[in-house]
Amino acid sequence: MDGQDLVGAPSELNTARVVLYGPRPEFGPVIVASINRSLPGLRFIGWGQRERAAEFGAEFIAFDLKVWAQGECLVYYAFERDTGAYVGRIDLHSWDFATPRCEVGYVGDVLTAGRGLMREALEATLDHAFHELRLHRVMANYRPENARSANLLARLGFVREGYARDYLFIDGAWRDHVLTSRTNPHFDAAWLRD
Ligand SMILES: CC(C)(COP(=O)(O)OP(=O)(O)OC[C@H]1O[C@@H](n2cnc3c(N)ncnc32)[C@H](O)[C@@H]1OP(=O)(O)O)[C@@H](O)C(=O)NCCC(=O)NCCS
Repeated sequence: MDGQDLVGAPSELNTARVVLYGPRPEFGPVIVASINRSLPGLRFIGWGQRERAAEFGAEFIAFDLKVWAQGECLVYYAFERDTGAYVGRIDLHSWDFATPRCEVGYVGDVLTAGRGLMREALEATLDHAFHELRLHRVMANYRPENARSANLLARLGFVREGYARDYLFIDGAWRDHVLTSRTNPHFDAAWLRD
């Protein structure tokens, strides 16, 4: 696989309770409002106070559109099907097309938290990655104190593989991270490039 497979990825994924859309300009204000009301939980990823400017939403979406068009990253915005409420953002980034593998990142909205909607949205994204995009491995890393993220990944079948000291610089300091991954039991070696 290569970046063209990402460019051609569907702009909509569906689950029983959630619809996921690729980035759209009108999502800018949605994500800014979500970030502003979800600030306490966002300290784990350094989005705390820094990115509250109104223009940030438009920049954010423009960046998402650019990296998708360049085949560097897939980004989905999840909404509850029945209410239209914003659920969260999921991205598949840091692709290695030869291996093939990537990393997943996610941020949920505090108003729809605790109902398994992010789990459902992530499951659909991972299904797409493993079956349509034919990935062998998806990795996810979280700070040891981020219990909700640890629970979410465990429920999704991610397995702890290591511990990286001083892994990411967040909120003025290098932060340790737990390294996890989920592999594709249906991966066919014939999918690998020569
Ligand atoms: C990480 C994060 C997305 C987790 O959100 P969440 O609300 O815990 O996740 P879910 O929406 O899947 O909700 C799961 C909870 O809903 C409950 N639930 C209710 N109905 C459910 C259902 N049908 N299916 C699954 N879970 C359900 C579960 O019991 C679960 O709680 P538990 O973990 O205590 O068992 C959120 O805390 C967040 O955005 N944090 C800030 C950003 C962040 O840390 N990102 C990750 C960086 S590594």
